Amino acid sequence: MLQVLKDKSYTDYYSNGFVETDISLPEDLVDEIKGHYLAKSRGHNDFLKFFANNEHQAYLEGNAIGFFINAFPKTAKKMVKKFYDKAYNKAVYCEQAYIEKVLAYLLENGFQKLFRTRYIVASYDMYLRNGHDSPAAGIHTDLPNFHHLYETENDLSLFIPLVDLDDENGGRLSVLPEDKLRIPGNVLLKLLYEHFSQAPECLDENGYIESDRITPSQLAAFVKTKPHQDLMAVYKGATSLAKKSYAGDFKRTVETKGKVLMFNNKNFHAAEQWKNESIDREIYVIRMVPIYDARIKLKSTLHGTPVNNVLIDLEEGTIRRFDGPVDLATIPEAEKLKL
Ligand SMILES: [Fe+2]
Repeated sequence: MLQVLKDKSYTDYYSNGFVETDISLPEDLVDEIKGHYLAKSRGHNDFLKFFANNEHQAYLEGNAIGFFINAFPKTAKKMVKKFYDKAYNKAVYCEQAYIEKVLAYLLENGFQKLFRTRYIVASYDMYLRNGHDSPAAGIHTDLPNFHHLYETENDLSLFIPLVDLDDENGGRLSVLPEDKLRIPGNVLLKLLYEHFSQAPECLDENGYIESDRITPSQLAAFVKTKPHQDLMAVYKGATSLAKKSYAGDFKRTVETKGKVLMFNNKNFHAAEQWKNESIDREIYVIRMVPIYDARIKLKSTLHGTPVNNVLIDLEEGTIRRFDGPVDLATIPEAEKLKL
C-alpha cells in the first residue's frame, strides 16, 4: 500500500485501518443515488450470484459451520444463501451508475492528493441496503474470488453511507488496521500467472492472460494446486486469528450521510448492527483496483454486466470510461506497481 498511497494517507491507513477523504458528496447527489436504487425491487440480491463455484470457503471453514458444510454441502449452501438473503434486503452490483459522477466530484475536491500511484481502475459499484432485523456482518475479509479474478491485497473501496452511521443508528464500519494483522493477496496474482501462462489457449499475442478465456474446469484444476491450497490455509488461519486475538483492536468510524471513507476491504472488517427501526441502512461502494505488473487482463464482465471499464488518472485528475475493460497492456510499465 506504500506504493499506492502518499505518506499521510498511508500512515492513516496503516494505523487506523481507513483513510478519511474529508470529502462529503453534495446532498442532492446522495439523494439522487438513493432515488436511483429505490427503483430496484426490494429483495433484489446480486450477492448470491457469488455462490456459484468456490467462494467464502476458507472463511466459512474457519468455524463450526465449516465442519457442517463439509458433512452436508447442499443443505449448508442453502443455509448460507439464506443468511445473505437476510443480511441485505437489497444488494445491487455493477450498475456503474454513479462511478463517474462521484469520482468527478472527488477529483474536483483534491481526492488525488491521497495517492502516490498514477492510475487506478474503478472496477464496479454496489449498493447495499439492510434493516434493523438483518444480522450484522461479523469479522471477515472480502476474500478474493474467481468472479473478479484480478484482485490485489491493496484493493480500495470508497465507502459512502447514504444515511448517518452513528451511535444512534448503528451500522458503523470497523476495520482492523494493517499494523495489527494483514493477509497476503498479491501472491494470488502471481500464482494465477504462473499457472495459466502454461496454457497457450489462455494467452493473447502479447503473452497476457485473457481472463475471460479461462474455463470453469481450468479454474477447478487451479483450485486443487498445492500453492492455492496453501494460500487458502493462510486465509483460514488469519481469519481465525483476527477473530480470536484481535477482536478488540478494530477501529470504528462515525460517518455522516454522503461522507466518503476509503478502506481496504481485504483487511479484516465488520459492520455494527443497524438499530434504527424507521429507516434502512444504505451504503454505496465503489471498488477500485490498483494496477500491477502482472500480465493478466481484467475481466470484461461480472455476472454478465460490464465492469473494470473506468480508468482514473490520479496525476491529471481525470476519469476515462472505455467500451470494454481497461487494457492494462496500454499502461506504461513504469506506472505499474511491482508485484
Ligand atoms: Fe466485506
